[in-house]
Amino acid sequence: MGLKVVSLVIISFSLLLLLASTAKAQSNGVFDVTKYGGKEDITEALNNAWKDACASTNPSKVLIPSGTYSLRQVTLVGPCKAAIELQVDGILKAPVNPDQFSGGSWVDFRHVDQLTLSGSGTFDGQGNVAWSKSTCNKDKNCEGLPMNIRFDFITNGLVRDITTRDSKNFHVNVLGCKNLTFQHFTVTAPRESINTDGIHIGQSTGIYIIGSNIGTGDDCISVGDGTEELHVTGVTCGPGHGISVGSLGRYPNEKPVSGIFVKNCTISNTANGVRIKSWPDLYGGAASNMHFEDIVMNNVQNPVVVDQEYCPWNQCSLKSPSKVKISDVSFKNIKGNFRNSGCC
Ligand SMILES: *[C@@H]1O[C@H](CO)[C@@H](O)[C@H](O)[C@H]1NC(C)=O
Ligand SMILES: *[C@@H]1O[C@H](CO)[C@@H](O)[C@H](O)[C@H]1NC(C)=O
Repeated sequence: MGLKVVSLVIISFSLLLLLASTAKAQSNGVFDVTKYGGKEDITEALNNAWKDACASTNPSKVLIPSGTYSLRQVTLVGPCKAAIELQVDGILKAPVNPDQFSGGSWVDFRHVDQLTLSGSGTFDGQGNVAWSKSTCNKDKNCEGLPMNIRFDFITNGLVRDITTRDSKNFHVNVLGCKNLTFQHFTVTAPRESINTDGIHIGQSTGIYIIGSNIGTGDDCISVGDGTEELHVTGVTCGPGHGISVGSLGRYPNEKPVSGIFVKNCTISNTANGVRIKSWPDLYGGAASNMHFEDIVMNNVQNPVVVDQEYCPWNQCSLKSPSKVKISDVSFKNIKGNFRNSGCC
């Protein structure tokens, strides 16, 4: 009898503790990192807030309020029990030194359904030092620097308002995703920055990039193998290397690219406008059903490019033509002006 009472007391006491800690961290489904002890460095706080939010059976939000914070490398994994949002209103600073990363990314979202990434905040990759040491402008097999944000196997996701700047490598990499929208998204890095593609997409279906502003040192948007149903609308691009499909055919067993729709975009002060590129003499592949329409070019060096002998840094042989089959391509209502020297 006495024993039962004691264990009941213990059970209710631990229940109380549990309730107290959850109540501390969240209110109305909002998990605020600053309530998880996040101050200057929010790495641990973000990991813990994400874990709690992800376990919530109701839709939840992890909040990073305005302010400036350091954030080390994080992987935010699902699957989660319900829809989850990360609202970033603060400025997040990555470690400057690339040696502080293992693997290819700073912030990695993986295996999440119904993910929203929102807020007026910025992911600042602080890439200056890394670019100055980079050999990527001469050597395509250069050391892999971390990308600002990776989306791996995300389904039914939405990224809106967020800014990503000065990534050490690509700003955003989309892999294995289905139905992911970028809306009013901003990418910014200097013209001279190396390999800082805005959004790279591969092995994904149903990607929408809408009303966004991308200026970098490399491609604004680059499309890798296995991309299907990509819709790019109302995007301004520049500086940078334009919007590119490819390069394709460099590696064996690449999956086809199909259904690429680029519409109502403005491309300014870039090396290329819209481009399809494949390597000569290597592997097969296919790219079809690609349409570029209503595009304004300002001061673009090569407004429309289909290059089937893409061979940067002479890393290939031109002995035989590309084995990548390109078909059903249209360029419609593309206007503006080009320049044939300087820049980029
Ligand atoms: C795509 O994802 C969005 C955002 O989660 C969702 O509202 C929409 O219903 C999804 N579309 C389809 C066809 O599943
Ligand atoms: C075209 O893109 C611009 C942004 O560059 C946007 O303001 C406008 O609403 C878009 N128009 C249509 C018809 O999508």
